[in-house]
Amino acid sequence: MEDIMKRIKELKNEKNVVILAHYYTDGQIQTLADYVGDSYYLSKIATEVVQNTILFCGVSFMGESAKLLNPEKTVIMPDSFADCPMAHMADSDKIKEVRDTYEDVAVVCYINSTAEIKANSDVCVTSANALNIVKALPNKNIYFIPDGNLGRYIANLVPEKNVILSDGFCHVHTSITKENIEKAKKVHPEALILAHPECTWEVLEISDYIGSTSGIIEFAGKSDAGSFIICTEMGVLHELKMKNPDKKFFSVGHRQFCPNMKRITAQKVLEQLETMDNVVELKEELYEKANQSLTRMLELAK
Ligand code: 13P
Ligand code: SF4
Repeated sequence: MEDIMKRIKELKNEKNVVILAHYYTDGQIQTLADYVGDSYYLSKIATEVVQNTILFCGVSFMGESAKLLNPEKTVIMPDSFADCPMAHMADSDKIKEVRDTYEDVAVVCYINSTAEIKANSDVCVTSANALNIVKALPNKNIYFIPDGNLGRYIANLVPEKNVILSDGFCHVHTSITKENIEKAKKVHPEALILAHPECTWEVLEISDYIGSTSGIIEFAGKSDAGSFIICTEMGVLHELKMKNPDKKFFSVGHRQFCPNMKRITAQKVLEQLETMDNVVELKEELYEKANQSLTRMLELAK
């Protein structure tokens, strides 16, 4: 493994490639990356890096977003099958139907969506900025796609808006149940419950903190508490444990594991650096409009 890591370092310097990785990838991938973060941070950093090639260790929508924001750069991905099922749970026909029904509606799409859905939306959001962006929009009617759980969480915080929900979901986060958490809490009664807003309402209701992966990491770091029950994909445990060696972190079940994020291995990163052939390509007609939704997100989230 040391050889692989060494070769990755050599090749990325030689070929002027920057490696970005999401917190849900394996700890080893996070170690070899130049930048690690949540979806918002990664899309922002993708617009700031100087290298001409971005190797994105994440799922398809992340590489696509990096490409949409940087059409002139080459974006490559270690595994072409690493895809987020939720990204495909929104529908352009349904968007049209909602637009025809509500005169003053903003279509707000979670970054976990395809480029086509982004192109048909007014603005993108991530879990780190969704609340501020929805609040900042002048529209009363908000069509929030595709994640129903994040949508419901936001809707509850903006009672002044009419949030039209959809029924997309993340199978990893919805596998975390209230019963699992209560069991964990019995064993570790002192632990605080930190949850990602992709979790179900019954989980969010009993949580001490709700936020994006970066939010969870920041909260745990600043908190006086010494132990935490983590309700999101377990890849975040890598950063949590590294930053807080004296604190304890517990997961609540073996299904807190995103099989798509875990498709990315150091071997595949190395192979991609060698061949550079899994290039993100998008339909020409999507660029302008999908880019607008992402750029608007970056502006409104400032
Ligand atoms: P964040 O990184 O925005 O917290 O999103 C979690 C996620 O599910 C990414 O797929
Ligand atoms: Fe998609 Fe859920 Fe995996 Fe995130 S954790 S990439 S939302 S399946």
